[in-house]
Amino acid sequence: MISSFSFVCQACCTNSQARAGVFSTPHGEVETPRFMPVGTLATVKTVTPQQLQATGAQMILANTYHLHLQPGEQIVAGAGGLHKFMAWNGPILTDSGGFQVFSLSELRKITENGVTFRSPRDGRIIELTPEKSIQIQNALGADVIMAFDECPPYPATREDVELATERTYRWLKRCIAAHQRQDQALFGIVQGGVFLDLRQEAAISLTQLDLPGYAIGGVSVGEPPELIEKIVRATAPMLPAEKPRYLMGVGTYREMVQAIAAGVDLFDCVIPTRWARHGTVVVGGERWNLKNAQFREDFTPLDESCDCYTCQNFTRAYLCHLVRTREILAYTLLSIHNITELVRFTQRIREAILRDRFTEEFAQWLAPTASSL
Ligand code: GUN
Ligand code: ZN
Repeated sequence: MISSFSFVCQACCTNSQARAGVFSTPHGEVETPRFMPVGTLATVKTVTPQQLQATGAQMILANTYHLHLQPGEQIVAGAGGLHKFMAWNGPILTDSGGFQVFSLSELRKITENGVTFRSPRDGRIIELTPEKSIQIQNALGADVIMAFDECPPYPATREDVELATERTYRWLKRCIAAHQRQDQALFGIVQGGVFLDLRQEAAISLTQLDLPGYAIGGVSVGEPPELIEKIVRATAPMLPAEKPRYLMGVGTYREMVQAIAAGVDLFDCVIPTRWARHGTVVVGGERWNLKNAQFREDFTPLDESCDCYTCQNFTRAYLCHLVRTREILAYTLLSIHNITELVRFTQRIREAILRDRFTEEFAQWLAPTASSL
């Protein structure tokens, strides 16, 4: 069978490892580098798929852990899969669940077989294993599915990180054996914590498994921001150039620019939607809180230069009013703007790479002193 996935590199930057490419999936193309909004429970919170498409988002995320707990993968499969269930016909990626168990569940216990935890929903004990995670992801039907991994906390001893990284590799081989669907691409995840040699060893052994794509996991888990860049710079170039590279859970401007300079193609982060729910917007690379009194009588658009639905139709004063009165529409309008802003940022980087002007035009974010947004 001819693979329904491909990654074509369109341009490589001459001064860095940055590249612009096209990742093709059974549900369409993703022009890289690109930011992917997070839709944990098969919804990017408060925005409709139509609104989401208008932000320029091409691929979105959902979570195995959350969808297994609720509504359960049988229901999603019964609807005809995740795309039909949530009415998003573009590419979708599901995360494998392990990472979410660690951050969200009580009573988790990890063994060679997998992870057991108590469901925060009804208290029952659930076991997730590499096989179970893949079975669930096969039932959900996303275009890209992620290997079930163990993400060591930060800080952790070298020995603990080494054990987790080796286990992640053994689990990956079990994921590959359990994976049943040709129309889903299974990505491997490089762990290794802050230990660059462990990262590089993991990248080399994963590459030998010839997967359709690779992710860098275990970053942005509490380590100092300088370390994120070191980890990504040591790891991304070790992954095969002809496959997409995805940096998990990262989405500040600086981290994305630095990672793109190291050869990363895909990002996801809850920032745009989470901030929206707190009344926070990203405008021209700055963070503003719309609750602030300065916006109460400001009848200008949120961002003059933004073509999103929110900026084209509403004033700062109106958005300030919605945020202050906790009107539900506030979350929708702010999410639309924030997602548009982040996706557009990666799109502008892509265009700069295509003109081979990336390191010049984004130098401000590559400097060691760059601000973090
Ligand atoms: N999301 C953010 N980081 C990680 C990680 O290390 N593993 C997984 N599976 N998901 C993540
Ligand atoms: Zn806008």
